[in-house]
Amino acid sequence: MTVKPFLRALAGEPITPPPFWLMRQAGRYLPEYRETRARAGSFLDLCYNPELAVEVTLQPLRRYAMDAAILFSDILVIPDALGQSVAFREGEGPILPPIRSARDLDRLGTPGLLDRLAPVIETVRRLSTAIPSTTALIGFAGAPWTVATYMIEGGGSKDFGHAKRMMWGEPQLFARLMELVTAATGDYLIAQIDAGAEAIQIFDTWAGALPETEFRRWAIGPARHLADRIHAERPGVPVIGFPRGAGVLYRAYVEETGVDGVSLDTSVPLAWAAEVLQPLCTVQGNLDPMLLVAGGEALDTGIDRILATLGKGPFIFNLGHGIVPATPPGNVARLADRVKAWRG
Ligand code: CP3
Repeated sequence: MTVKPFLRALAGEPITPPPFWLMRQAGRYLPEYRETRARAGSFLDLCYNPELAVEVTLQPLRRYAMDAAILFSDILVIPDALGQSVAFREGEGPILPPIRSARDLDRLGTPGLLDRLAPVIETVRRLSTAIPSTTALIGFAGAPWTVATYMIEGGGSKDFGHAKRMMWGEPQLFARLMELVTAATGDYLIAQIDAGAEAIQIFDTWAGALPETEFRRWAIGPARHLADRIHAERPGVPVIGFPRGAGVLYRAYVEETGVDGVSLDTSVPLAWAAEVLQPLCTVQGNLDPMLLVAGGEALDTGIDRILATLGKGPFIFNLGHGIVPATPPGNVARLADRVKAWRG
């Protein structure tokens, strides 16, 4: 029997007050992150430096005592380790040489994948002994569709024009890319678990851009494959899915992937989630990250509404998407205090 509240919640237990953590809890809103980041050099240098990656993972825990730590890394280490070199330019986000043809794809491959990711796995190993004994360690990866959008577009995108053109126009090439990313992601997640990750979150940030048929095939399909593989090969390790923007398809996602927990984006109606999703699995979410910037009574009201509707559990308090850099650290303290003081 685990005593970690986060893992008990994922096993389906209602917990009062609910465990909490925040997506992107380590990051630029914290001055100590900006200081460590400046010492590391580039953002990817930070991801591949176990000593500094452990340090930035622990920073938010020291201030706010979250119930879970999330490995500090990025979803784009997978394309980087597959041989598609990723760069982060200040203020521009990620840049990659785009994959648009079979020749581009032929240059990528899984041999040596885990060697290139060894520093990230080492970070997990160190974190598993460095975090407080009641804190759970979350490993993560991007979902194949979201990672593929960056690989095909060559960076961020507003309409995913290149990715969708490949999906519909060159379905065999797209399927081959998705299979490569899915296989690499599975190996990477198993390695994180073997190094000490106690739960896994799969981030499908751009799932909501897919029409229903494609959502079922390319968001639900790979998530089910990854959840099945983890459940079969490392039984007892729970999986949280985050199909951001899925709308009413959240239900099919939960039913058909077999995830243990689902992370709700900001738009999911609370009463609907309580009625439809919470009987199926543990739910996590979904405070608007901009309320954490705004603060004040609006923040308190937003927190209270979520707790009143979902707090009876099984529930994990979180945001509906990642913390933004403009967040005042004092507002995060206000949130942590309010969630921990809740008694139902
Ligand atoms: O949650 C955590 O604290 C763990 C770390 C984490 C990061 N990225 C650190 C990061 C996690 C889980 C991610 C996931 C991630 N990365 C996603 C999925 C979740 C989401 O937020 O939608 C996506 C789409 C990415 C890709 C990515 N990484 C982009 C588009 C950017 C640039 C945008 C930006 O905020 O600058 C990043 C960079 C990034 N990843 C930063 C951090 C702390 C900022 C980099 C910096 O310090 O300059």
